[in-house]
Order: sequence, then C-alpha cells, then structure tokens
Amino acid sequence: GLPERVKIVEVGPRDGLQNEKTMVSTDIKVELIHRLCDAGLSVIEATAFVSPKWVPQMADASDVMTRISRKPGVTYPVLAPNLKGLESAIEAGATEVAVFGAASESFSQKNINCSIAESLDRFRPVVSAARDANIAVRGYVSCVLGCPYEGEIAPQKVADVAKALFDMGAYEISLGDTIGTGTPGKSQAMIEAVATHVAIENLAAHFHDTYGQALANLLAVLQMGIATIDSSVAGLGGCPYAKGASGNVATEDVVYMLNGLGIDTGINLEKLAETGSWITAKIGRASESKANLALAAK
Ligand code: HMG
Ligand code: MG
Repeated sequence: GLPERVKIVEVGPRDGLQNEKTMVSTDIKVELIHRLCDAGLSVIEATAFVSPKWVPQMADASDVMTRISRKPGVTYPVLAPNLKGLESAIEAGATEVAVFGAASESFSQKNINCSIAESLDRFRPVVSAARDANIAVRGYVSCVLGCPYEGEIAPQKVADVAKALFDMGAYEISLGDTIGTGTPGKSQAMIEAVATHVAIENLAAHFHDTYGQALANLLAVLQMGIATIDSSVAGLGGCPYAKGASGNVATEDVVYMLNGLGIDTGINLEKLAETGSWITAKIGRASESKANLALAAK
C-alpha cells in the first residue's frame, strides 16, 4: 500500500543547477536554498564538493555552505566523491554528505573517472571518516534504469552496488534513473531486486523525467512502500556526464500528486511554485513543472 508520509529530498540547488552552462551566482544559490526552506522542504541538497574542473558550476560549494542560514530540523546534504571533498565539506559545516556510485561501468568512468570497484574502495574511507565525524552518509546509485553508454542495466547490478554502499554505512540509498528511460514495470522490478538486499525504508527514488515517465514510475514504487523521493524545484537539472538527460521530476508535480493521494509532505505548494517561478526567471529557463505552470497561470 501507499505510505502515509513521504520525505522529499530537494535536489534543485545541486542536481538542478550543476548542468547550467552560465554561472549562477552564489547569491542566487543561497536565496534558492532559503526559499526552499521557507516552502517547507526539510532536506535540501545544497551543493557538491567535486572537482571544479569537472563541474565548474559547483566551484562555490564552500561559499554556499558557509553563507546559508540553517533552519533547525532541516538538513543540507552535499555530494562528496572522495576524502578531499569530505574534508572541504566538513570544513564548510556540512552535517550530511552523499557518495555517488553507478550500476554502469562506463558511466562510472565518465562521471568519476574510475571503475565501480575502485569507486567502492574510494567511498569506504569516506563513509567511515564521515561517520567518525558524526556525519550521516547517503549513497547514490546512478543508471539504475538505463545507461547513456551501455543501454539496459540488470536490476541485479543495481542491487549489488546498493548493497555495497549500504553495508559500508550509508543510511539511505538513492536509486537514480539518471537518464529517465525507466517505465513503471521496470521501476518495480528494479526496486524488487534491490529490496531483497536493502530494506525498502532505506531506499529513495531519484528519477529524472527525460521521457515523461517519472511521476508514473514514482507512483509504481510508492505502491511498493518507497517513502523517500528526490526531486527538483521546477524540474531543473541534468547530469553533465549524461548528455541529453533532462531534469529531475519536478518537486511541485510530486507534491501535487502526493496531496491528491492524501499523503503528507509538510510542503507549502504555493510557496514552492513561487520558488520555481523565481529560480527559472533568474536563470532564464522555462519551468519543466506542469503544476508550477498551472499554479502560476491562476
Ligand atoms: P580525478 O581527475 O580522477 O581526480 O577526478 P584526482 O584525484 O586525480 O584529482 C584531479 C584534480 O581534481 C586535482 O586538482 C584535485 O585536487 C582535484 P589538480 O591537482 O589537477 O589541480 N580534486 C578536487 N577538487 C575539489 N573537490 C574535490 C576534488 N577531488 C579532486 N572533491 C573526481 C575524480 C571524482 C574528483 C572527479 O571525477 C569529479 O569531481 N567528478 C564529479 C562529477 C560530478 O559531480 N557529476 C555530477 C554529480 S553525479 C549525478 O548528477 C548523478 C546523481 O544525481 C544521481 C543520478 O541522477 O543518477 C547523483
Ligand atoms: Mg540526478
């Protein structure tokens, strides 16, 4: 059955902006995080402590983290692919980090410049150092429903990587349909395979909407008990190493659907939609969120 409450992990400030070619100012990033917080989001992925040569848009990670005012009860996770990223994240006051692996060898090479096995060996000390410093760790698996370089990915491969991340100490595993090629039946089969190794309450769905399937896929996995959803305000986003992939499912659309299902999120949809309109105007993009556009037209 459907969960009573769903936790939304807002990834707009990170996944939503990382692929923007034009630099978004630190001021705008900080204001975006504040507005999302005002709209009631309780988990806001704020930035990424990655190599600025690989992802120039995230070069101001430390400034973003030190300049945001933090609301009690709200967490601001950041990406940290290695010990260097973790150290900078801790220095900037991060209390939660995410390591990010993949279920596809080619994507792992393109995105983080190493094999899956090497990435797991690299993440292990990151996770243990983070936990020693009282920092919670989330683990991402990319390409769970397809890879831009390899096509189909076996659910068992996803399950293996998810289990490895969970076993090394990540408290939650976020399953990324990086290129948005998944459909509802495939999404369910993938979750079924992963859930035999990692309990469903420790899994999150991180679906991109490239083919317009993300909401349908989310409903399919909500019915299996998934209760954590990653989404991006206005449907912003994309991965620099997954050409042609569009943004995450829009937070406005997810909240609208969950409201209709009577599932509590604690989010103010009007304020959220205003934030979607605000950020898309600031960066000169059209909103990808139908709910945002509908609410803005009222
Ligand atoms: P590398 O080149 O193999 O690393 O990159 P390296 O250790 O050899 O270092 C090379 C240079 O980068 C050195 O600088 C390091 O100091 C620097 P140089 O000596 O040349 O001046 N460096 C760093 N600088 C800042 N912060 C760091 C850091 N690490 C090294 N943490 C590396 C390996 C992992 C660093 C690189 O490949 C990288 O940063 N990749 C990140 C790519 C990325 O951010 N992709 C997007 C996020 S993932 C995503 O979007 C998917 C997700 O949303 C889920 C889904 O949708 O599926 C999460
Ligand atoms: Mg993503």
